[in-house]
Amino acid sequence: MSPVEAGPLLPAEETHLLAAARAAKDRAVAPYSRFRVGAALLCGTGEIVTGCNVESASYGLTVCAERTAVFKALSEGLGGFRAVAVVTDADTPTPPCGACRQVMWDHCRDIAVVMSAGGAVLRRRLSELFPQPFEFGGPPR
Ligand code: THU
Repeated sequence: MSPVEAGPLLPAEETHLLAAARAAKDRAVAPYSRFRVGAALLCGTGEIVTGCNVESASYGLTVCAERTAVFKALSEGLGGFRAVAVVTDADTPTPPCGACRQVMWDHCRDIAVVMSAGGAVLRRRLSELFPQPFEFGGPPR
């Protein structure tokens, strides 16, 4: 089933996904910003693949938690992504950066994005966060 047809995330699935993202946040490698981010991607198989931000001394080489999760999952042959959870220690939920929105659109299409921080949960579709995506008119994926 494609992510667009996947339907809403069940409450139990969301709880599980947020817990996985929270655990991933604790593995963040963020000695420069000290801003820890955890992401968890729900795959078509039901498997959850997590990611955390990994920073570099050459700051621009840093990889965000969301892209870590997407690249991990793709490199393991997983797909059919349904949802991503993003957890930080900020006061309010933190939506993914623009680069991650593009990469998630490329590989996950219109998934559910669940963001949690400061005791609040914000739920959006990726198409709401990223309404006019760049599409490359090249060879089929
Ligand atoms: N970061 C993420 O992991 N995800 C985002 O969507 C935005 C930013 C990370 C990158 C960097 O390690 C830290 O947060 C501060 O920008």
